[in-house]
Amino acid sequence: MAIALAAGLAGLAGLSGGAGAARAADGKAVYAAVCQACHQDAGKGAAGVAPPLKSAVVKATTAKTRDYVPLVVLNGLSGPIESEGLSFQTVMPPQGHLSDEEIAAVTHYVTQTLNGAKGAKVDAKAVAALRAGKAPSAADLRAMRSRP
Ligand code: HEC
Repeated sequence: MAIALAAGLAGLAGLSGGAGAARAADGKAVYAAVCQACHQDAGKGAAGVAPPLKSAVVKATTAKTRDYVPLVVLNGLSGPIESEGLSFQTVMPPQGHLSDEEIAAVTHYVTQTLNGAKGAKVDAKAVAALRAGKAPSAADLRAMRSRP
């Protein structure tokens, strides 16, 4: 876990210092700078580190509610989950330091680019409303996950 956390922080430094900052609302760039250190290239995940983001669970959950991905980004996640036949009991630190625009853009990348979700985008206004609302617990977030 310490390794994953350090990698996440290294990714963050990349965002604030490099090309990521200039293209802040480019979801793929936000993903590369912040999420990829843990979730790997193209959201394929890594056993024992972080679950895949191109996954049947993320796809099915997104079909039910667009709020899941931005809520996880804002609040982090912990506790036991299963995805693509692997079990995880790890910790994702909250990424609420990202702007509403960056979270909207990275949500679009995860839901639509990686998982092929169609329909309305989560926009910055929707992220702002989620940020202002009551923060869900990790258990609440895990209960939102759909089993495909
Ligand atoms: C420091 C590593 C780390 C970083 C950085 C990180 N995550 Fe995570 N993420 C995790 C871990 C670990 C979990 C699973 C936590 C658990 O076991 O409950 C997770 C879970 C998730 C989930 C839930 C997946 C599911 O199957 O329900 C989503 C969605 C997600 N992350 C999106 C993101 C996005 C988008 C970013 C970038 C803005 C990001 N994460 C950055 C480690 C990370």
